[in-house]
Amino acid sequence: MFDRFDRNINYLRISVTDRCNFRCTYCMPMEGVPSMHHEDILRYDEIIEVVNVALDFGINKVRITGGEPLVRKGVVSLVEMIAAIPEIRDLSMTTNGVLLERYARELKNAGLRRVNISLDTMDPVRYHDITRLGDISQVISGIEAAMSAGLEPVKLNCVIHDSPDEPDAQMVGEFGKRKGLEVRYIHEMDLDSGYFRRVIGGDGGNCPICNRLRLTSNGLVKPCLFSNSGYSVRELGPRNAIERAFQNKPECGSVNTTGEFYNLGG
Ligand code: 5AD
Ligand code: SF4
Repeated sequence: MFDRFDRNINYLRISVTDRCNFRCTYCMPMEGVPSMHHEDILRYDEIIEVVNVALDFGINKVRITGGEPLVRKGVVSLVEMIAAIPEIRDLSMTTNGVLLERYARELKNAGLRRVNISLDTMDPVRYHDITRLGDISQVISGIEAAMSAGLEPVKLNCVIHDSPDEPDAQMVGEFGKRKGLEVRYIHEMDLDSGYFRRVIGGDGGNCPICNRLRLTSNGLVKPCLFSNSGYSVRELGPRNAIERAFQNKPECGSVNTTGEFYNLGG
């Protein structure tokens, strides 16, 4: 369905958890963040209800994000339920990759089509500095597992400070080339100050063509990453919440002082 600014909104990004097994410096403090209460997190049947209603608004593309989606129990069964909806023609996941060695095959069998894996450097020490808890060798195994499971295409998300020419980003670029994987360079953003730039190699951050809505793990439908608006599916019901998000999708992002990447799904 088209929004007020003639954008065809067909893409829903679903954050299934605010938790993560990493503590990337640009995303979370070392001590982590206070976890949401279990009962505030949407159950899978509630997520499916939102997806089913979203179909009526023309959503045909879904991405599962987090936090780290693979730390939520039973996420493979959620993938299976969404993949079984015929109207959904693209089902993807954004993950830090560390659990992919374990789950890639199951995810593929459940109907996941493709994955984006976060990878900001190829240097093991730098990788550990950035993620604070990550072991790069596990992520590389995860990338390989995703490729051999046939999750295609595997894309790499690389957060940069200034440019794709900085050393960490260059290393990731070379790795991508060697493996035949597309790399998307994402400028480090600051939700509070409203600092965002277009994703290099992707569609993120490009307001005039933005086709997204987001569902947070606690059930807010958000029209824009860089906006404070969010409409609760539990309070309003999924149809009203989605409708209001449609009506209030801003022409361009501004600031978001209400959330962080770990619960908005990047
Ligand atoms: N700026 C840009 N990208 C971010 N991500 C997390 N925090 C930020 C930030 N401050 C990215 C992750 C991942 C995606 C989910 O969001 O690196 O690729
Ligand atoms: Fe976890 Fe992703 Fe945030 Fe890193 S950027 S702490 S992997 S949610």
